[in-house]
Parts: sequence; structure tokens; C-alpha cells
Amino acid sequence: MTLVLTEPYRIKVVEPIRETTPAERDAIIREAGYNVFNILAQDVTIDLLTDSGTSAMSDNQWAGMMIGDEAYARCRNFINLEHVVRDVFGFPHFVPTHQGRAAEHVLFPLVIKTGDVVPSNMHFDTTYANIATSGGRPVNLVIDEGLDPQGEHPFKGNMDVLKLERLIAEVGRDRIPLVMLTITNNNGGGQPVSVANIRAVQAVCRQHGIPFFLDACRHAENAYFIQQREPGYQDVPVRDIVRQVFDLADGCTMSAKKDGLANIGGFLAVRDVGLYERICQRLILIEGFPTYGGLAGRDLEAMARGLLEALDERYLAWRIGQVRYLAERLQEYGVPILTPPGGHAVYLDARRFLPHIPQDQFPAQALAVALYAAGGIRAVEIGSVMNAHQDPDTGEWDYPALELVRLAIPRRVYTNSHMDYVAAVAGDLYRRREELHGLHIVHQAPFLRHFTARFEPVA
Ligand code: F0G
Repeated sequence: MTLVLTEPYRIKVVEPIRETTPAERDAIIREAGYNVFNILAQDVTIDLLTDSGTSAMSDNQWAGMMIGDEAYARCRNFINLEHVVRDVFGFPHFVPTHQGRAAEHVLFPLVIKTGDVVPSNMHFDTTYANIATSGGRPVNLVIDEGLDPQGEHPFKGNMDVLKLERLIAEVGRDRIPLVMLTITNNNGGGQPVSVANIRAVQAVCRQHGIPFFLDACRHAENAYFIQQREPGYQDVPVRDIVRQVFDLADGCTMSAKKDGLANIGGFLAVRDVGLYERICQRLILIEGFPTYGGLAGRDLEAMARGLLEALDERYLAWRIGQVRYLAERLQEYGVPILTPPGGHAVYLDARRFLPHIPQDQFPAQALAVALYAAGGIRAVEIGSVMNAHQDPDTGEWDYPALELVRLAIPRRVYTNSHMDYVAAVAGDLYRRREELHGLHIVHQAPFLRHFTARFEPVA
């Protein structure tokens, strides 16, 4: 008998999915200005817009919601969360925040001066924008293999340590307030970073006295990849890998909406008590008292329990296995994807999917729109709409290396028959790809434009 991997949970509550017709979807996407962020959730068949805040919580988490202690200061759920943050991550100081970008928004203005440079393997878009609006220049230093959609490197999220050393030599240590690593590298395809690379980056930081931070949203998935792929870690429990990784960092920003299995929440953790005190001051100004940070007590409890559940290795095997399952089904249809698949999502390679659409006509956005029109599937563009940046002096656009459409899989929400459906719709679109056209922008905001931009089809 062949062993079949099965979900390590039963389904206790279900949410019906409404059906839409192709004609309805054509009208809906036109009304939405060809931007899937503007579509009503109820009009979506399979929602792969994000894995963030979209997890199904466990019965254990829901039970925790019922013991929410809504006291303003030092509620019992904060104490529970504090135990988890200390035990799992080992940081002596932390504050809850209502989500990951709030942690960024608290941290960066405290440490960045105008003209500073913040290197990362690859900044997520809110991280990029929060650094830029604090007067800093975000710089991406992922290894070259991480920009090749077809390379089979096991740790395509790694930072190029030589590039980091060159940057430090060029701009000077004093202009680099911190170095970050995003684990896993979301904008680069959900690709993991190895312990060896984290150690190497940390060693460079220590040599120059630069603080080293992790953007830790998908740290459990990253640790699972380390266990599966990095020599010497096969027999190390995920929880121990997590601790080894965080022991190297001076701090982290965390969105618990991903590997916290929570619908809302995050935290900012540091070792430096002086920085922690400044963080508390700023947190009180914008998020709330340092023991709730913009969250209800019940949300703190869901986060505390979710952070532990995400370290369950049977859960992680299923989770990463489901992403791989979708990738394999897509490949059977010949659909070009970024390989190897990431931890939380499969990324369609829009450049190879739609080679006839030039980058200034947003091929990845056109593909995201087509997925909705064809099958009610909502995915997100991670290409020129999200990541092209205009030079403020010359007005010239710098286009990103990758044009991707991310099919992000919510945790514990969809079954593999949903994945079969997604692959079939994408496969059919690929067969008739020449019928698809590019888009042009008719309205956009000065930053984070992908959320609100409106488009029209190129005639
Ligand atoms: N860092 C990374 C790597 C992220 O992927 C995200 C969010 C954030 C920071 C910000 O966290 O949403 O809690 O404020 N990513 C979501 C996504 C939005 O769809 O990938 P947040």
C-alpha cells in the first residue's frame, strides 16, 4: 500500500462558497478597475490573495478566545504570550502589535536617520515603504540564484554576503542602522534562508557592530525547509532550529497573521533594553499600552496558541506538502512556475506565461485578472505594479527582475480538490494564453500603489 499524506486535522466548521458565472465575473472585474483588491470576497471562488490573516483557527485557539482577559494592563493573555515569545524565540523584550507592519512602523523611525541604508535579502513591500517613509533607502541583496525563476537552489532566499560587505564598505557602517533577513523571502517566491547564511550575515553584522533583525512572519516554514534541506539538520526538531535561528538575531518584526496562525496580530522583539524602552514609548503613541499593542486580550491568546501550533511538524509537512501538490499539478499542465515552490505559495512566472506582454503593460497583473475572470480565483501580482519604483530625480521607472503571480495558500483552509480546480483553471488559461492582453494604469497612489491602482485593458 502506498502511504498517502493526509490533513492532520478534521474539519469542524464549514463556510459555503458562492458560485459566479463567467459573465458575472467579467462585469465584476471591470467594475473593480481590473484590480483584484477591489473585488468583494463573496464574489471569489478560491481566495489565494494572501496567506496572511486567512488561516482557519483550531478548536484550541477558539477555546483560548473565550478566556480573553480584556484588562487594559498586564492581562493574563499577555503573560501567556510572553511565555511563548521567551520560550520559542528567546527574546527578553517584546511588545505585541496589531500586525507586522505596525511593528515595522514602530521600529524604523526609532533607528533610521535620513539617508540611511537598510539591506535585506529582499524587503516585503510594507517593509520597503516603512523604511522609505522613515527616510531610509531599502536595498535588496538576495543571491543571484534567487532572481532566477527556474534555478533549483535549495535556499534561494539567501542573502549575498559579498554584496553586503561591499555595501558596508561603500556607504559606511554608520549609515546602516540594521540589516534584515526576511524568512522566508516572500517577494522572492517564498524561498527559505539557510542557517549557514543566517550565521554568515550575522557574523558580518557583528564584525561591524550593526544590529541584525529578522522579518520573521514565516519562520516556521523556513525552519521546516532547513530540516528538510540543510545538511546536518535532518534530525533536529523544528522547534530547536527556530531557537538556533533566533539566537543569532538582535531582534525581529513578526506578523502572526502567517506562522502565528492568527487572523490578526504581530510583535516586535529585541534584546537591547534601551531600544525596548524607546519602543514602548512609541508604541503607546500609536498602538496602545505595551501589554496589548492594539489587540484585544482574546487576540493575544489566539496568537500565543497559534505560534505553538505552527511548530507542529505533522502540520508543517502537510502545509508545505499542499503547496508542492499545487505546484506539481500546475507543472502537469505545463504552466510556468517559479521553482522550487515556496513555503506558503506557488508563484506563476508571468514573463514565461505571457511573453507577448511587455513589462510596462503589467503581464503579472494581466494574468491575475485573467485567473479571476476564468475561474473566480483571486491571486496577487508581485511584479511591476507592486515592485517597480520611480526615481524621484529622473522620473525613470526601475522594473523588477521577477514578474510573478502569487497563489498564496491560506493555512488549514482549502483541500487538495480546491488545488486541483486551481491548477485546471490555470492550465486552461495557459493553453489559450495568446488571447490575453496587457493593461495600463488609469489611477495610482504615490506608494504601495498595487492596493488601490485602477487599470484598463490595452486596446
Ligand atoms: N513582512 C513580510 C515578509 C510579509 O509577507 C508581510 C505581509 C509583512 C511583513 C507585513 O505584515 O501584513 O501583518 O502587516 N504580507 C502579507 C502578504 C500582506 O500577503 O504577503 P502584516
